[in-house]
Amino acid sequence: MLVLAIESSCDDTAAAVLRDDRSVLSNVISSQFDVHSPFGGIVPELASRRHIESIWPVVSQALDRAGVTLDQIDLIAATRGPGLIGSLLVGFTFAKGLAMVRNIPCVGVDHMSGHLLSVFAGAEHPDFPYAALVVSGGNTSIYTVTDRSTFQCLGRTRDDAAGEAFDKVAKLLGLGYPGGPIISRLAEKGDPQAIAFPRAWLDRDSADFSFSGLKTSVVNHVNQCRRKNEPLNIEDICASFQEAVVDVLAEKTVRAALAHGLKTIVIGGGVAANRRLREVMQQRCEKEQLQLFKPEPVFCTDNAAMIGLAGYYQYQRGDTIAPDTDVYSRSPLH
Ligand code: KG4
Repeated sequence: MLVLAIESSCDDTAAAVLRDDRSVLSNVISSQFDVHSPFGGIVPELASRRHIESIWPVVSQALDRAGVTLDQIDLIAATRGPGLIGSLLVGFTFAKGLAMVRNIPCVGVDHMSGHLLSVFAGAEHPDFPYAALVVSGGNTSIYTVTDRSTFQCLGRTRDDAAGEAFDKVAKLLGLGYPGGPIISRLAEKGDPQAIAFPRAWLDRDSADFSFSGLKTSVVNHVNQCRRKNEPLNIEDICASFQEAVVDVLAEKTVRAALAHGLKTIVIGGGVAANRRLREVMQQRCEKEQLQLFKPEPVFCTDNAAMIGLAGYYQYQRGDTIAPDTDVYSRSPLH
C-alpha cells in the first residue's frame, strides 16, 4: 500500500510517501525559517499563509521523489491536531479535498501519535511496551506506549515545553530563532558546570516537568552580569542551561521507565535531535540496563513520514475520517 502523508501543524509544510510501514520513499520538509526568524518566534497568521503557498509544491515533490503519481496512492494521512488551527486547516483540508476528488481513503492523525511512533521510520524497531519522551517546541511529555494505538501520558510540562525554553532563552540572549540548534552549537564550546542553573524535580516520583523557573534563572543571571558590568559568557550560559534541561529530561524519563517496569525508552520531537540529550540519555540508559531508541534527527523534528506511519496503523484498524471531520488544537492524548 502506498501512503501519502501531509503534516502542517506548526511552521513546517511536510509531505512523505511510504510503502506500508516498511519504507519511507520520500520525506520532504519545507521550512518557514525565513518567514518567522525576523520575529524571533512563529507568527500563526504568516504560517498559515505560507502553508497555502507551499502545500501543493511540497506534495508534488514528495510524489516525484518517491517516483509515484497520485493515481497510485492508496491512502492519504494528514495531521488533524494538535497545533496551530490555521496551519492545521491548510494541510488537513487539502488532504480531505484530494482524497474526496480522487476517491482515496483518508485518515486524520494526532501529531503526538506520530512522534510516539516515529521510531518505526528507522531500521531498528523497539518491542512493546516502551516509555517515550516527546520533547518539542510545543510539548514535553512522557508516555507509556503499549502497542501501536495505546498511549498513556505519565507526565507533561506544567508550563513551558523544553523547546520553547530553548527558543526563549536564545531570544533573550539575542541569538536568533529557532533557539535549540543555535544554543546546542554554542554549548559545545562552553562549560556545562559554569553556572548552577536550577533543576525542577517537582514532587518525588512526578513525571511532570517545569522549565519556567530555569528560564527566569537565566534572565536573572543575565541581568546580574549587566548590573555588575561583567561580560556575558554566552557559551557557558548555553552549556549550563542546556545541561539543566537535559539532566531533568533524561533523569525523569529513566525514572518513569523504571517505575513502570519498562525496559525500553524511545525519544522523539525536535529537542530529541539535541546531541547532548542523546548522549546523556544513552549514558543513563546503559547504567540502568535499559534499551534506548533514538530516531534519526530528521524523524525527530516535525515530518510527514511519522504521520504516514501512524496513519497507516490507524487505517489497518479501520479508522478513516468523514468529509466534515475537523482539526483540533489540543491533543486527546494528553
Ligand atoms: O518537533 P519540532 O520540529 O516542532 C514542534 O515543536 O512541534 O520541534 C521544534 C523545537 C524548537 O523549539 C527547536 O528549538 C527545538 O525543537 N530543537 C532543538 C534542537 N533542534 C530543534 N532543541 C535543542 N537542540 C536541538 N538540536
